[in-house]
Amino acid sequence: MRTIMLMNAKGGCGKTTLATNIATWFADDGAKVALADFDPQGSSLDWLIARQDYTGIPEIEGINAHQGPVKPARGTDFLIMDAPAGTHGAAINSMLKQVETLILPVLPSPIDMRACRRFLDELLHSGKVSKHQTKIAIVANRVRENTLIYRQLTEFLGDLDIPFLTHLRESQNYIRAAESGLGLFELAPSMVAQDVVQWDPIVDWLNSADSRP
Ligand SMILES: Nc1ncnc2c1ncn2[C@@H]1O[C@H](COP(=O)(O)OP(=O)(O)O)[C@@H](O)[C@H]1O
Ligand SMILES: [Mg+2]
Repeated sequence: MRTIMLMNAKGGCGKTTLATNIATWFADDGAKVALADFDPQGSSLDWLIARQDYTGIPEIEGINAHQGPVKPARGTDFLIMDAPAGTHGAAINSMLKQVETLILPVLPSPIDMRACRRFLDELLHSGKVSKHQTKIAIVANRVRENTLIYRQLTEFLGDLDIPFLTHLRESQNYIRAAESGLGLFELAPSMVAQDVVQWDPIVDWLNSADSRP
């Protein structure tokens, strides 16, 4: 079973957005997917409840990891984990126990970039990441291209020793998908074409050996 976690100490950077969309990507591809929500806010689980209104879309198993153990159904191919904000210190290590692959969403904002730098310092000192038992990569999220702050973010990320996979633009399609319990890839293709191509580097990395210990 592949284990993929979305984590960043900062709230609102896109952990749930990436978790739900990665889950649907693999589910739509025919894999058996479970989505474990570690956040007491339960946004991923709310999204799964909205998803129940549809028929004919692949099912995703929801796990309330905030309140109970993470035990996906037998035969699960992908376990996607949505981490809460505010994870620090020893909690990072315990959170990463079962995690092969970690994606960190970062917003183009001064506050988020400073928080990201501090969080990365902690992360890179955590045993699993420093021993390469968990592979990490960064995705810039809610990007407005051709802005100074986005240029500053790419410079900041370019200086790091961690793969910077891609950016996802600021788009109402993510809000639509979040509301409806669907993935971006399950909305009308003509509406989401510009967003979907931005996912290629994420999917390629997740499918490559580089994202596995
Ligand atoms: N690329 C994007 N474009 C537009 N809105 C986005 C994008 N990514 C996330 N959002 C919105 O930003 C808010 C915070 O994102 P969320 O994924 O819930 O963050 P987190 O789980 O890290 O707290 C949500 O309302 C979400 O729909
Ligand atoms: Mg969230």
